[in-house]
Amino acid sequence: MLRKLAVATIAVGLAGGALGLGTAAQAQAVKAGVLTCNVASGFGFIFGSSRAVNCTFAPGGGPPQHYAGAINKFGVDIGEVEAIYDRARSLGNLVASGVSCHIGSQLLDTGPVMEAVDKVLALIERLRAAGHVIRYVDLGGGLGVAYKSADAAPEIRAFIGKLKNKVQGRELAVMVEPGRSIAGAAGVLLTRVLYRKRTPKKEFLIVDAAMNDLIRPALYQGHHEIVPLRKNGRPAILADVVGPVCESGDFLARDREVADAAPGDLFAVSTAGAYGFVLASNYNSRSRPPEILVSGDQWRTIRARETFEDLIRGEQGF
Ligand SMILES: Cc1ncc(COP(=O)(O)O)c(C=O)c1O
Repeated sequence: MLRKLAVATIAVGLAGGALGLGTAAQAQAVKAGVLTCNVASGFGFIFGSSRAVNCTFAPGGGPPQHYAGAINKFGVDIGEVEAIYDRARSLGNLVASGVSCHIGSQLLDTGPVMEAVDKVLALIERLRAAGHVIRYVDLGGGLGVAYKSADAAPEIRAFIGKLKNKVQGRELAVMVEPGRSIAGAAGVLLTRVLYRKRTPKKEFLIVDAAMNDLIRPALYQGHHEIVPLRKNGRPAILADVVGPVCESGDFLARDREVADAAPGDLFAVSTAGAYGFVLASNYNSRSRPPEILVSGDQWRTIRARETFEDLIRGEQGF
């Protein structure tokens, strides 16, 4: 139930990211009384009554990994925003009440977010001057987490302080949509070494977790520290840590210094709490692992390990 509620909220909040939110989901959101809906392109929304909309736009100008409205499927180019708000006003049943932006993800430096805030605030001034009553500013998510031990995640208190200084006195309610920075460091993926394989050129540690359990390394070269649950004092080895799936993209780490482990040893793949289990799949007919909640010295299963029956449940007509 909690997950369902969260998904409903996120789907609406992330319309900028979701792009093609189906009309059923939009209707559900309206019925649930969500505060605003974000518009990621023109108006694909169906509204039964007057609704507040935010326009999600990409301020652009940031480093290449950030979203840019004109060349990216996300958001609306900043140059188009004012026309869209005018159109919303002309439709009669929409109220353009806020501005929303999300410049990208895994930002270890909040400088680009602050630059975006300046652009958003300037845009809000222009929209207000054109008669739009703008009450909300939504700055999206994107704050990074420390995937590598040398990384330093932005300090949230300092970030909020800077943000407050910029918006103070402007009569704007501020929303943020942090995802990874809340959940990323809270999760680890536990995996067991199945066997070791040595070729004339390389060493492989084959573990029982695979790309279907954590796809970040295969999908976008995501880095996760891989630490042994028990230290054995032996020098580290250089190896690829790979899963058992028949795909050369099935790896958790490549050319990595890891503990000299033997079959049966356990590793924790760190910082797997965001874009981890939610991106897990049943690819290669692999059942997804259980989810365990650890609180202090207590733990409990909050999602059962999938079984073969779970995998074939929806199949029919043979
Ligand atoms: C519109 C929007 N808000 C928030 C987020 C969450 O981002 P993060 O997990 O990097 O904080 C995303 C993710 O892509 C997004 O598209």
